[in-house]
Amino acid sequence: MNDTTASDAWLSRGVAFTPQGVDGYHECWYPLCLSSEVKPGTVRGFRFLNGKLVVFRNAAGEVSVMSAYCRHLGVDLSLAKVTGDNIRCPYHHWEYDRGGQCVKTAIGDTPPKRARLFRFPSAENLGVVWVYNGEKPAYDLPRFPVDESELVYYTCRSIEAPMDPFMLYSNTMDLQHLISLHGAKFDTMPTEFDVGPRNISYTQDMTVPMLGRTTQQVKLHGTNCITLCSQVRGRPSFLMSAGLCLQGPRTRTFNISATLKRDAGDGALSRSIERLKAWAHVRMLDAFGKKLNADDDPIFRTISPRIDSLSGSDLALRIYFDYIAKYPRSRVAEDLIRNDYLAAAPAAH
Ligand code: FES
Ligand SMILES: [Fe+2]
Repeated sequence: MNDTTASDAWLSRGVAFTPQGVDGYHECWYPLCLSSEVKPGTVRGFRFLNGKLVVFRNAAGEVSVMSAYCRHLGVDLSLAKVTGDNIRCPYHHWEYDRGGQCVKTAIGDTPPKRARLFRFPSAENLGVVWVYNGEKPAYDLPRFPVDESELVYYTCRSIEAPMDPFMLYSNTMDLQHLISLHGAKFDTMPTEFDVGPRNISYTQDMTVPMLGRTTQQVKLHGTNCITLCSQVRGRPSFLMSAGLCLQGPRTRTFNISATLKRDAGDGALSRSIERLKAWAHVRMLDAFGKKLNADDDPIFRTISPRIDSLSGSDLALRIYFDYIAKYPRSRVAEDLIRNDYLAAAPAAH
């Protein structure tokens, strides 16, 4: 099915949202890849929205994220070589600096002024390279309320689903499914939601299989990332799921599980025992996240989304979709990341 047919099907069932890729993509911080996938002195290419980006890490470890196609004749710069602080296109050896500007041609011509890649706002935290779809970030990078240096954390890729991230992350505020599919029990369902232009926050008290009774601080970042912060088995516990939006529609998810390196309850334990306890807790949190993903996965793979028949318990979901309807989109650097020659080819990575 091509994109036009997919949009028509989506819109014809009373759904108030245009798919991603129509009038741009949501202005969000997207997880592009794992930090460990881009070694110092290397350049790697990754699919992003309906195109491709390159991630370049210089010898000092600093990362730059740029549109993937050379401004000369359009060669894919994931084939580029790193030369000091620049990357060099394999075709005619034009060189780009970390800001994306072409600073040198091998033949000696002055680089044209237009020979500039788009350098996307980017950052790294919690083992992820993040990229912002826009000129300038309008909200903070998703993070936990504790400095990364105080955490033990595990970051991994998780499920991929044939839907846009905003539909996948509607799952968080779909409180009915937390009960029916994941086995959660609420004493009372949350009714207070702090809704900003780029975030939604709320608190939920519930009893959940694997975790027991817990009070979770839930925060939605943009339309593609959720953080859950709580005490689990007496220990501070942090979970994040973030989704990269790809043409398809498709969402590639990343999971992060974390706890404090040293918990107040550790008392006089040795450093190595503290760390073992922390890792055991992180493994338990990761298993919990994977269990949720496994429950959702067959649903996500086959769902044909519509939202024109919600019931009374879908209050949170209504608030979520109202937020989504107002969420801005960006078309920044759209023409620089797309490869129309490859558009019909199957996704490689
Ligand atoms: S296509 Fe890149 S230098 Fe010519
Ligand atoms: Fe779920």
